[in-house]
Amino acid sequence: MKKKLIVGNWKMNGSLAANQALVRGVLDGLEGLQVNAAVCAPNVYLSQIQAMLHDQRALDLGAQDVSMHEQGAYTGEISADMLREFGIRYVVVGHSERRQYHGEQDLHVALKAQCALQAGITPIVCVGETLTERRAGGTEEVVKRQLAAVIQTNGHCISEVVVAYEPVWAIGTGLTATPEEAQQVHSVLRHQLNAATAQAARISILYGGSMNATNALTLLNQPDIDGGLIGGAALKASDFLAIMAAASQCATAS
Ligand code: PGA
Repeated sequence: MKKKLIVGNWKMNGSLAANQALVRGVLDGLEGLQVNAAVCAPNVYLSQIQAMLHDQRALDLGAQDVSMHEQGAYTGEISADMLREFGIRYVVVGHSERRQYHGEQDLHVALKAQCALQAGITPIVCVGETLTERRAGGTEEVVKRQLAAVIQTNGHCISEVVVAYEPVWAIGTGLTATPEEAQQVHSVLRHQLNAATAQAARISILYGGSMNATNALTLLNQPDIDGGLIGGAALKASDFLAIMAAASQCATAS
């Protein structure tokens, strides 16, 4: 089995001192684990963390958002080329918190993914339904629509993205999709990607939404779950490492 990808999304958390301790703790515990790992930090800390990661390859650096414009008069925005200068490997696009609080639509997300790809950064494209949409039986339709926009805009480059299925109702709530529920949606996304590109096997589909040390192993053991996008549990080195240990166990067991 290919190595799982575990990505920490710190959201708007951290400080110079806290980041130092967290990254040090993660690096110390990563040795020997069969996992691809990254942390997505707030933009102001990218330089700090880039410096901490410069002499190792076990942990990659990511950002949490990127502008859909290349450059120019967009006050407050950060371009993909700027991120690239800080050694960024991944950028989260279309997180539900961006869709919910910042009005991001499917097309914006698709254009952000495009800007990232053009700069050589892997976009982690988030899709997921709200509780209302799930209860109305709309889960498949919603995630397929969200992913379709990114596929349409990015053509054959779609094989270079990472997809994250994050049911909105499971984010930060302690509620997790059951492994079967998550697998069901991952399988829908996998079929959609297979139909879009012959290279779909390269694409990792992560699960996100209250993944933690206790539930990680059963989620990661599902056939179409290639890793995790971790919020709260990525803020403590021991919790984050426990998830990566579970991911490593899946990789070595197969
Ligand atoms: P959570 O967040 O793990 O705290 O639920 C996941 C995410 O929003 O990426």
